Amino acid sequence: MIKAGVLTISDKGFRGQRRDKSGPLVAEMLTKASYRVEKQGIVPDDHEKIVECLLEWIDKDGLRLVVTTGGTGVSPSDVTPEAMLKIITYQIPGMAEAMRASSLTKTPHAMLSRAMAGVRGNSLIINVPGSPDAAQENLTVILPALNHALAKIAGDTDDCAQE
Ligand code: MTE
Repeated sequence: MIKAGVLTISDKGFRGQRRDKSGPLVAEMLTKASYRVEKQGIVPDDHEKIVECLLEWIDKDGLRLVVTTGGTGVSPSDVTPEAMLKIITYQIPGMAEAMRASSLTKTPHAMLSRAMAGVRGNSLIINVPGSPDAAQENLTVILPALNHALAKIAGDTDDCAQE
């Protein structure tokens, strides 16, 4: 089973001013999809704290997949994409494009998410927006490609035959 983590990025959630529904929802979706969710946490919209937690989970704890929720938008406090750029070696633009394209059929505000998918070593980090509905809708889009992405990131050289 692939080791996964779910990180909620939210000032209000961190301070206890808002109950975090998105993190548990994402964790449940990943568990249902047969990932082993070993870490769940919440950090404020703080660049350093986000980087610190992701590095610990990936480099020290060996998680292969981390889904973050929140902080992808365009308000001054939203720094999830900036933290991502500090730690990933390359992006997988198509995953973020697919999430935005699908979300745009639900709300024009989807274009405001700067969510990324990025690779560090043989681990994948996916950002989804912070509201529970948005988190669920976005994760649903990429779940079908997630296992294949993780296999390829880990160096699987098999031909990508259509299944
Ligand atoms: N995507 C989906 N599928 N559904 C939504 O309701 N909300 C949008 C967008 N993406 C939304 C969505 C809104 S309102 C914002 S501001 C951005 O995600 C960024 O959200 P975040 O700052 O919580 O990460």
